[in-house]
Amino acid sequence: MTMTETAPNASGYKSFSIGGFTFSRDEYFATIEWPTGSHQMAVDSFLRCVQRDVAWGFFYGIVNFDEVFGTMNHYGNVDMFAGRFNDAYRKAEMDYNENFGHDELIGCFTAMLSDWTNEGYDPFAAPMETGSAYGPANGSNEAAITRHRVVASRMVGVPGDEQIRSDESGYPINRAFHDVPQDEPVVEAENGYENEVCAFNLFAYLSRSDVTWNPSVVSACKESLYCPTTEEFILPVIHGNDRVEWFVQLSDEIQWDVEDRDSGAKRSRVTMRAGDVAAMPADIRHQGYAPKRSMLLVWENGSNRIPDLIASGQIPVNPVDF
Ligand code: PHB
Ligand code: FE
Repeated sequence: MTMTETAPNASGYKSFSIGGFTFSRDEYFATIEWPTGSHQMAVDSFLRCVQRDVAWGFFYGIVNFDEVFGTMNHYGNVDMFAGRFNDAYRKAEMDYNENFGHDELIGCFTAMLSDWTNEGYDPFAAPMETGSAYGPANGSNEAAITRHRVVASRMVGVPGDEQIRSDESGYPINRAFHDVPQDEPVVEAENGYENEVCAFNLFAYLSRSDVTWNPSVVSACKESLYCPTTEEFILPVIHGNDRVEWFVQLSDEIQWDVEDRDSGAKRSRVTMRAGDVAAMPADIRHQGYAPKRSMLLVWENGSNRIPDLIASGQIPVNPVDF
């Protein structure tokens, strides 16, 4: 299956079609059409979602752009859907789902993101740290939209791993984190272990993050991944989990709306303040709200066996029963 794109419309934007889906944009909205319906999103919200779906390679489980449209990762191929996790759409039989190869859908989303992102708009940035996404087509912002998650193969600070820890790195301390101490831990290794024993200041590292809602792997221990991130405003996507994930609130506050993954029925609202720890069950979807920039540690188990073990009931959807 191949993507097709049209010549630019009156506002200067191309339309993109893949399978039964067509995407078009005007000065304010992204419009999604499928054989049984159509849907609109404010284009800034839409681009923030596309940006993350592309950068995360569709992430774990479901990435809902909102209560109607999204993608579900099958790790190699991916479903794109409208109304699939929405009771009303299902009852009205307006829901639609189509499966795509990972690379072909990433290709379509990347082309759309590139064509629809104007100069000065950064879909990874907090609203107060970027320009507007609205208006007629105006230039591009390739440098912003081709950023990837920083992935450590061992741990940040271990020789050879990616380091964003000084002004010279080109990552200044964020305006919200000028009070974060920048001193690095002193490591006194036994002779011969100088390259084995390492430590770094995670808070200082995160204080220089130039993106929001973009977990980056800072340490990997087998399948156990520490993915801290800095958050401000709203998590653009409503993430439907296919595994348990743990949240450790490192600073400030995030409120989470937690819903049933399949129906969208409200399940709970969680307020996390610095020091709070929560486990998000494997059968929910959630969206976070950070009133000011905050630091969050997302702890994931990256094993590709987990979705099947959960789906077949061999492991529970909650990590702990109280
Ligand atoms: C999540 O869905 O669990 C998630 C995604 C991005 C973040 C934080 C949490 O920045
Ligand atoms: Fe999640």
